[in-house]
Amino acid sequence: MKLDRKIIIRNIIMLSLKNICRDHIVYLFNQVDDMMKNKNSTSMKNKILVNAFFEPSTRTSLSFETAMYRLGGNVITFNENVSSIKKGESFEDTIKTLSTYGDIMVLRHPEIGAVEKASKISNIPIINAGDGSGQHPTQALLDLYTIYRTFPELKNLNILFIGDIEKSRTIHSLVEIFTLYPLNKLHFLAFNNCLPNEDILYNISLNHKQNIDGIIIQPDQLDISLYDVVYVTRLQKERHCSSVESNFILTPEMVSKMKEKSIIMHPLPRNKELPTTIDMDKRTVYFEQMKYGVYIRMALLEQLTN
Ligand code: CP
Repeated sequence: MKLDRKIIIRNIIMLSLKNICRDHIVYLFNQVDDMMKNKNSTSMKNKILVNAFFEPSTRTSLSFETAMYRLGGNVITFNENVSSIKKGESFEDTIKTLSTYGDIMVLRHPEIGAVEKASKISNIPIINAGDGSGQHPTQALLDLYTIYRTFPELKNLNILFIGDIEKSRTIHSLVEIFTLYPLNKLHFLAFNNCLPNEDILYNISLNHKQNIDGIIIQPDQLDISLYDVVYVTRLQKERHCSSVESNFILTPEMVSKMKEKSIIMHPLPRNKELPTTIDMDKRTVYFEQMKYGVYIRMALLEQLTN
């Protein structure tokens, strides 16, 4: 049974979460709970992780690196700016090369689909660390784990996503994983010109039995006291062709109106949408969220390489 799950996880976590099931998530979260108690192991001794980021990152790259070291493994880091890409080497040859040096690769790329393309070239497993405005599956798992820590049943929750709904891959992946938890209601409060596409709205209305017209919340309609989870994102300026601006700030006054037992999340990095003046509020969990990323990634690395 354990082996079956490993094989399934090997095939699904790498690129997206489309085929993951609740059973796998329970299995993964139990493993994460264990890893948080026993922070180090030697399960990845003699294994090498290739960290290949074609886009900036702090949390994802360094949490994978930390995870690998905590498991007794080693990390090599690809840096595009000093690589042979500067001499004209193709993406394909770069991936082929990297996949001969390590046992597992973590890849971030600005283009949707680039990680899937790489997975067809590579002969080692590739974890999607974010492909443009597409998906960020390991972030969704750590986000779900963060919600599960406060709301272990993962049901009857009112969840509000705020920010750049159109281009935020962390929102896209978390919405996708919530397909498995249909007894929750999802809502969006988008920055101007950052609305989700029609497919996302349609899928939510089907999966979560919500009226499609009620999914989008306008800023002047917002009653923040209705929500259990408020998930804020920054404007993904680098992904928009036209001029857009972040026109919502989660103020301390709004936070004071939230339910006592509610949580405020953000995948980070943040900009002005999430002022530091709310950091001390007991409902904020974004620094815990970031910390859980290490343990989620430790669990995934073990499952994908052993
Ligand atoms: N949450 C996240 O993906 O952060 P980084 O861009 O710093 O990796």
